[in-house]
Amino acid sequence: MEKNYQELLEEAKKASKNSYSPYSTFPVGACVLYENGNKYLGCNVENASYGLAICAERNAISSAISNGEKSKIKAVAIYSPKQKRCMPCGACRQWMSEFALDKNETKIILEDENDKILVLSLEEIFPYRFTLEE
Ligand code: THU
Repeated sequence: MEKNYQELLEEAKKASKNSYSPYSTFPVGACVLYENGNKYLGCNVENASYGLAICAERNAISSAISNGEKSKIKAVAIYSPKQKRCMPCGACRQWMSEFALDKNETKIILEDENDKILVLSLEEIFPYRFTLEE
């Protein structure tokens, strides 16, 4: 599983190269892995009207939904060349929770300061989430 997560991080790194982030100069890439094995990439896309920027994670999830994905998110790898442990913002946590595994067991995969893989669960970083069910 560690090897799969490493691959997922490599994909997030590749996606970060496509980032359009001239305003923040903070590229981010994400790779979302679904339960059925499908993967989708996303990068952040900024705009001259700064507040319209869209995060890498939400772009990856939008791509999945736009391509007809129906299964649940098993793991999300996030990478920025500018910052180790590039944690997902609050809006992206809420977006991930919408399509997460039961009990928010979806994994968040990051690279730490020593280039080691850090695996967290969405539940750990986003407890007491907003939901219309339960
Ligand atoms: N960003 C992401 O892509 N994902 C996050 O979870 C945090 C922030 C982007 C948005 C913006 O383009 C840049 O990082 C700086 O905030």
